[in-house]
Amino acid sequence: MEGQDLHTVVEQALAQVAAAPDRAALEHIRVQLLGKSGAVTAQLKSLGKLSAAERPAAGQRINEAKRTLTEAIERRRTQLQQTELDSELAAGRIDVTLPGRGQEPGGLHPVTKVRARIEALFRQVGFHVVEGPEVEDEFHNFEALNIPASHPARAMHDTFYFPDGRLLRTHTSPVQIRAMRATPPPLRIIAPGRVYRCDSDMTHTPMFHQVEGLVIDENISLANLKAMLHGFMEQFFERSLRMRLRASYFPFTEPSAEVDIECVFCNGAGCRVCKHSGWIEVLGCGMVHSHVLQAVGIDAERWTGYAFGVGIERLAMLRYGVNDLRLFFENDLRFLRQFRTG
Ligand code: FA5
Ligand code: MG
Repeated sequence: MEGQDLHTVVEQALAQVAAAPDRAALEHIRVQLLGKSGAVTAQLKSLGKLSAAERPAAGQRINEAKRTLTEAIERRRTQLQQTELDSELAAGRIDVTLPGRGQEPGGLHPVTKVRARIEALFRQVGFHVVEGPEVEDEFHNFEALNIPASHPARAMHDTFYFPDGRLLRTHTSPVQIRAMRATPPPLRIIAPGRVYRCDSDMTHTPMFHQVEGLVIDENISLANLKAMLHGFMEQFFERSLRMRLRASYFPFTEPSAEVDIECVFCNGAGCRVCKHSGWIEVLGCGMVHSHVLQAVGIDAERWTGYAFGVGIERLAMLRYGVNDLRLFFENDLRFLRQFRTG
């Protein structure tokens, strides 16, 4: 009777063990069978009810059952452990043949790069880099630069005004005034920064960048200006190129000139970019007007000087072969990625 019971208990227990889904469930089954109040343990306890003659054989059967179950549980535990490990490994599997996610390095904006390049080249030849405010007053942006209120050049500047009469500087030339008022001559500075004009089309944007240059010293001549600019252009474009001064007009310089360089797209042969002239205008310049020196209290009999204002985007377009100014301000990553190096 008891032997039949034991047999059934073992059969059922083995089935349970085989079906245990994980190690926690298996441990639960083990306690139910072999624990203090487990089914097999209960069998052992019932031995006391048997006669002394029956007891040894029954005890042996129960111990055998116990060993069978213990071994089955151990095997199942090992099996489950392997399965768990396998699925853990499968979940964390790394396919080393997949393409990497990679890291995209950032890069400086082409305008920033060109500005840094201009600054470095001028520093090498003894210029100091200074800056002025973008919100200016009429005195610095116009009056001190020999552009009185009635002057037609004011209309040409397409100025953004604030209600209080201040304005967004239309060029970097007001920094000339600030530099000359802050430091007595001799003076040798460049002043890079943003300028604003109420104007927008394919070759004009309401904001762009200029670099102003100013040299005040004794015996400064137009020849000095021309030599310095030519040297700068050849350094900047890393090639020898032709440059010409074209007579022009700025109220704050006399004489005044606009500077053209040989078109870098066609080497001067003539193309769409240079409108088939072979030349591209890059800057305005001239000898500082005596009225300007007077406005800042510099003795125009003793000191002379030259000044120039170059468009940074203009140089960037030529250096990188970009034919639309607006590309610099659209922040299209496909455009900007091309400038990550070099
Ligand atoms: C001036 O702004 C003068 N202040 C330059 C100057 C300085 C002359 C010192 C004499 C002495 P202009 O408006 O021509 O001049 O501009 C100078 C340069 O800025 C141009 O040659 C061009 O390279 C650039 N530039 C002018 N307008 C724009 C624009 N809308 N977009 C991009 N670049 C421009
Ligand atoms: Mg011009």
